[in-house]
Amino acid sequence: MDVRRFAGDAVPMAEYTLAVSEAEIARYRMMARHAIAGESQQLALAGVADGAVVADVGCGPAAMSVEIARIVGPSGRVIGVEREEEALRAARQVVAESGLENVELRHGTATATGVEPGSVDVAMMRHVLAHNGGDEQRIVDHLATLVRRGGTVYLVDTDLTGMRALDSNPELADLGPRYAEFHAVRGNDPQVGLRLAALLGAAGLGPVAFVGLYNIVTMPPGMRPPLWAARDAMLAQGAATESDVARWGAAFERLDAAVVRPTFFAPLFVAAGRLP
Ligand SMILES: C[S@@+](CC[C@H](N)C(=O)[O-])C[C@H]1O[C@@H](n2cnc3c(N)ncnc32)[C@H](O)[C@@H]1O
Repeated sequence: MDVRRFAGDAVPMAEYTLAVSEAEIARYRMMARHAIAGESQQLALAGVADGAVVADVGCGPAAMSVEIARIVGPSGRVIGVEREEEALRAARQVVAESGLENVELRHGTATATGVEPGSVDVAMMRHVLAHNGGDEQRIVDHLATLVRRGGTVYLVDTDLTGMRALDSNPELADLGPRYAEFHAVRGNDPQVGLRLAALLGAAGLGPVAFVGLYNIVTMPPGMRPPLWAARDAMLAQGAATESDVARWGAAFERLDAAVVRPTFFAPLFVAAGRLP
């Protein structure tokens, strides 16, 4: 991979940057539980309900796919689409453990999902656009082709520059800005959450919902933020040094033993648009 080291100079998006581990899967499961609790109104407005067919594009380890599958029930279906083999393997394990039979996993990309056009009630994409700088509109345009008339595209993404932490650790104070800068150098938009409604509108979809939610997450011992899963990619890109990673690793270990758990405040944006 061609690695460049200068801010503002886009690094080619050859591969996804977050490695999948048991701790990462636990984080995805926690995010999915938060999403189900926090987005009930928007999910219902978008048509995620009994009997619906939902495509979850960039499903990762399928933590949210299985939660959606519980909502749509046995008469509905979730099609999880994922590009990375490592994530697909984790997804197969998560789906098998769930015991659900209405989740189908497929290999595909965000612009070539292989899902039949006009065949789903909801095309969902969560925390994927932030990793696909420059391709956001092409991806949302593709999602719009997957839904039937009256169906919806449902997008969730964040604003990395708006993250806050309480009772964290001074040695971790640079985590947020460094992670946002890492993405910006790759050509990604750390604030893509703010643009979700605009992306849906430009894809020809009518507005259904556009809300901002502040996710408040008390970090359990052993859990790590996304930056930790991206550390190898950050090292390769020159966005972190070995000594940064050692400092962050030691600080996380000290935090694991802290009685007062650190709390993270993460701004999330949820937008849904309907195909007329
Ligand atoms: C941050 S994870 C989110 C996973 C899941 N949507 C969730 O919210 O739990 C992003 C996932 O999208 C996948 N991904 C990123 N870009 C993709 C693309 N262009 N096509 C398909 N999958 C992609 C990654 O491999 C990763 O598994």
